Amino acid sequence: MKIFYENKKTLSEIIELAKNVKKIDLNIFKNDNIFIEGDNFNVMSNLLDFYSNKIDLIYIDPPYNTMSDFMYSENKISTVSFSQEDSILAYKDKMSLDDYLEFIRERLVLIYLLLSDKGTLYFHIDIKIGHYIKILLDEIFGKENFVNDITRVKSNPKNFSRRAYGNQKDVIYIYSKKIRNNIFNDIKIHLDEKEKIKLFPKIDENGKRYTTVPCHAPGETLCGETGKQWKGEFPPKGRHWRYSVDELDKLDSLGLIEWSKNKVPRIKKYLDEHSGKKIQDIWLDYKDPQYPIYPTEKNRQMLEMIVEQSSYEDSIILDCFCGSGTFLKAGLSKNRKVIGIDKSPIATKVIFENEELKNKLKLIKFCNSTNNTEIQKQFSFEEIQN
Ligand SMILES: C[S@@+](CC[C@H](N)C(=O)[O-])C[C@H]1O[C@@H](n2cnc3c(N)ncnc32)[C@H](O)[C@@H]1O
Repeated sequence: MKIFYENKKTLSEIIELAKNVKKIDLNIFKNDNIFIEGDNFNVMSNLLDFYSNKIDLIYIDPPYNTMSDFMYSENKISTVSFSQEDSILAYKDKMSLDDYLEFIRERLVLIYLLLSDKGTLYFHIDIKIGHYIKILLDEIFGKENFVNDITRVKSNPKNFSRRAYGNQKDVIYIYSKKIRNNIFNDIKIHLDEKEKIKLFPKIDENGKRYTTVPCHAPGETLCGETGKQWKGEFPPKGRHWRYSVDELDKLDSLGLIEWSKNKVPRIKKYLDEHSGKKIQDIWLDYKDPQYPIYPTEKNRQMLEMIVEQSSYEDSIILDCFCGSGTFLKAGLSKNRKVIGIDKSPIATKVIFENEELKNKLKLIKFCNSTNNTEIQKQFSFEEIQN
């Protein structure tokens, strides 16, 4: 699947552009958690020298081409995405559709090269532009490497005056570099109190919650262990025992089989042995903060879950549109090595004013525009201002 628009470069033209970006030596930071202020195409072109094929997880939440200016204000409650008197520009989000798609595509090519063979990309986007992005992702990653399309409920219901349904969701497209090779830790989520009572309605003599399931399951075993007679009975027609007859005997001796008045056996399943729920592709519990410090700041718990799901403790993870650094916070709290990039000086300010981030990240300023690449290795924002 391919998408056509004006001024679409060939892949080799994009690679050539990346090769011609002014080079800086980022290898000296290879053991550090870093935030680089600069255009992410230039920065990622530099990262390629050392991090090609090495990054296990990339989360991006780029501008969505909303035709807005996103403003920042010291007065946190008023930090929303429209102009106010006391606010300053954090970033612009206005391009033609063609330019926007090419801007994203150039960066996706570099992201693809940076991802390790077990790596995953999470691309956060809204429903207005998402479908175009999905085609770009199919083109660059290959349709076969599509993993999920997440529906994320981003806010409480809103009363729009538009003649349309309210929009509460955005989407996250997930692609792996190589399908079936991607890190996926199958993180489970805990049941809430209502679900515990619903799914484990019985209480035993020790006060422990449990439920029961049939001793048999669909599918017949003709000559296997699970098709044998147990306690004088064969499994019902078209079914087999869930366990071998020896194991069923063992469960019975441990008191883990419940016998009804009519002598029908069922296996007991206890709440405290339940590993939690598999996460599905509709995320209801990760709404964005009501009082963000930075415009379009994302939900921290959602990013922590993504980090735990799709990377290991020794993984390097990247957000090249990192804004206020929510993904970096999530990564550091889970002991990952983090790399953040953003071109907005306001993002730098917010990140290096944050107690959690400022002492853990090294700041590199990358400025390619003046032909005069500058690296500043700093430990705090105050030091840079001085
Ligand atoms: C939607 S915001 C990200 C918000 C972030 N997820 C958070 O939780 O704070 C998008 C960010 O992309 C940055 N950005 C836009 N174009 C960029 C570019 N070419 N290089 C680096 N950063 C860019 C903007 O400055 C902005 O901070």
